[in-house]
Amino acid sequence: MNKKASSISLNPDVSGLKESSTLKINQTALSKRAKGEKVFHFGFGQSPFPVLPQIVEELKQNAHRKEYLPTKGLLPLRQAICDYYKSKFGYDFHEDLVIVGPGSKELLFQALFALEGPVIVPAPSWVSYGPQVNLRGKDITPVITKETNNYKLTPEELKEVCVNLGPGQKVLILNTPNNPSGAVYAEKEISELAKICKQNNIIVISDEIYAEVDFSLERKRGFFHFYPEGTIVTSGLSKAQSAGGYRLGFLATSPNLAELVDALTSLISETFSAVSAPVQYSAIKAYNKNADVDKYLDTCSKVHKTCGEYMAKRFNEMGVSCPIPEGAFYLMPSFQAFAQKLKQNEGVESSQQLCDLFLNKLNVAMLPGSDFYMGDELLCVRVASVDYDGEQVYKEMLKAGDDFEPVEFVERYCPNLKDGLDAIEGFLKSL
Ligand SMILES: Cc1ncc(COP(=O)(O)O)c(C=O)c1O
Repeated sequence: MNKKASSISLNPDVSGLKESSTLKINQTALSKRAKGEKVFHFGFGQSPFPVLPQIVEELKQNAHRKEYLPTKGLLPLRQAICDYYKSKFGYDFHEDLVIVGPGSKELLFQALFALEGPVIVPAPSWVSYGPQVNLRGKDITPVITKETNNYKLTPEELKEVCVNLGPGQKVLILNTPNNPSGAVYAEKEISELAKICKQNNIIVISDEIYAEVDFSLERKRGFFHFYPEGTIVTSGLSKAQSAGGYRLGFLATSPNLAELVDALTSLISETFSAVSAPVQYSAIKAYNKNADVDKYLDTCSKVHKTCGEYMAKRFNEMGVSCPIPEGAFYLMPSFQAFAQKLKQNEGVESSQQLCDLFLNKLNVAMLPGSDFYMGDELLCVRVASVDYDGEQVYKEMLKAGDDFEPVEFVERYCPNLKDGLDAIEGFLKSL
């Protein structure tokens, strides 16, 4: 469509906003595929497995529910979330302090909108935190982490930024397992960071959307265990339950932050009102801890681990350093070792140029480190490891149990991962 030059004036915070790069790369890759091109789609992180049949069935059974539900969400769903998190993570959520929203992304936005103070974000971190903070008229305060520490924030780095920001209230957003690096913080690491948050007037937004995509299959206790009085947890169905399109997330906190919950309840009542009723009823099944749910979560995590480890190993073997992921479905390889050749032969000097080159030359879609707040000159990229037929791969993993050879499994059932990596390897050799 040809857009006409317009004379309307827009809120400058909104007119400066670009479409989220993850959603954009997905559209670019899909439209190339629609034209018949072979694309290696390492750009978009969507869990590809089918949603558990019991959740789908519950959605069908509740399709007739047309009433608006309470602003905070359906009470039995909030209770189910509390019970689930108590039994799996040991968290003592109270149903009055749980809010259900249309994906955790919207709840993160609302929480960031409500909270005062600078927002500390370890770099690399998820693409949307920055723009959400921008919409609140602020910039994030990024803290560049080190590849040698698997891109995890250290207590020293956090202390240092606190000195610079002064004694007032601050917000830290920390996501583990991590998008984009695949890193998982150990309980000890979280407990040390929590101590610093306590001492420095930091409210933590603990983004736990990948908490059940932990390759160790453990359920690690996060900030809410070590620092409940200052922690807001966000999560939902999108990643572990592969139900991103259901748009069901939640936010939970402790009595100390009840004022925030009241503010958010008012804010929600004036914005999205409530999540779709059939989806909320179906979500109760997802938080009904049982053997089917556990088996599903473990099987999906096993596939993510197999694919993530395969890709990291291949990157390292071709001279592209890449921390081995421990959770989620992403990796953050760095092409820094090829910086000189890339500059000389291809004129590439930034992670964005590198991604453009890979897309145009190799049909490999991935996202530049700069979208994740890394210096653009660092030549690191975010790779998603989910470009395969989730339905088939899920079935094959169920059949395989513990008896499979990981490399053979990936190369047989996830050929795009192998072929995309072969294309990158061939290109690097040709430089
Ligand atoms: C780190 C992180 N946080 C939050 C979200 C938001 O997920 P949703 O809004 O689907 O709950 C995503 C989705 O990509 C994510 O990767």
